[in-house]
Amino acid sequence: MTDTNRVLDRVLTVEIARVTERAAVAAAKLRGRGDEVAADQAAVDSMRKELNALNIQGTVVIGEGERDEAPMLFIGEEVGTGTGPVVDIALDPLEGTTLTAKAMPDALAVIAIAEGGTLLHAPDVYMDKIAIGGGYEPGLVDLDASPQDNLKALAKAKGVPVSEITACILDRARHAKLIEEVRNSGAAIRLITDGDVAGVIHTTDPNETGIDIYLGIGGAPEGVLAAAALRCIGGQMQARLVTNNDEQRSRAARMGIEDFERKYNLNELASGDVMFAATGVTDGSILAGVKFDDKRITTDTVVMRASTGTVRWIKAQHSFLGKFD
Ligand code: FBP
Repeated sequence: MTDTNRVLDRVLTVEIARVTERAAVAAAKLRGRGDEVAADQAAVDSMRKELNALNIQGTVVIGEGERDEAPMLFIGEEVGTGTGPVVDIALDPLEGTTLTAKAMPDALAVIAIAEGGTLLHAPDVYMDKIAIGGGYEPGLVDLDASPQDNLKALAKAKGVPVSEITACILDRARHAKLIEEVRNSGAAIRLITDGDVAGVIHTTDPNETGIDIYLGIGGAPEGVLAAAALRCIGGQMQARLVTNNDEQRSRAARMGIEDFERKYNLNELASGDVMFAATGVTDGSILAGVKFDDKRITTDTVVMRASTGTVRWIKAQHSFLGKFD
């Protein structure tokens, strides 16, 4: 075990939860107010404050945007106290800004902390994704296979007819053909309006979430965050960047991407040791949203780690309300 691993063990396993808890509480105060920007800003400010209290030498590799377009938690920003392990940070202080503004399910505060150099530096473009949960033979589904073939293979491996498989897909016009193909194959679809980090994670517990497979195009940063989670809890994922113009391709190139058509597997999206934490902002299938009463704030967080496979569920009651102002 490297020094980095030892320090990750000792310091970060629980500390990481504070970071997403704090962002989630800040965003939750703005649930249902119709203001995505304010909710996001509150989450960003709070996450940054807590992150900077961690004893890490962190660099944001997936953040709020590039340096010139994001004042805080921009890609390349150094975070932490400057002592402790050198780590890469992927974060989304509020995954589901619209979900929060409309008080809809499955908004999360999300972070992944990994050994330096082990997360794909994905630009803020789209990414085509396919993901299923753990326990299946490697390569069971493939991004380049037809939806019908993937659904058939998954149903066979699960020992059920295709009609008992449910795919999760973002409800977007770009997915019209995909949706038609999945429906024609006989599978059901859970359309989500936003939040595909949760969509991918949902595949890891079909009994609880009712979702067996995630398909379609969402954000690339969200793809890396979801991959970090799957590395910890098991599952399969493949992805490919979707770059639509020269501006996006040069942005990708600036981040070190050479082959824009490359198909990434799970370990290429997030390799090495990685920790992932998510706190519910609004109620969802996996995590409850933040609850406020006159004495305390209750948060629901999951923290996972790839090298050990440990998954911790942390329901925290914060009795000192002032801490979260
Ligand atoms: P925000 O929290 O930044 O609004 O992102 C939500 C989200 O739904 C992601 O989960 C998803 O990957 C992406 O937006 C999809 O992008 P688009 O809304 O452009 O289709």
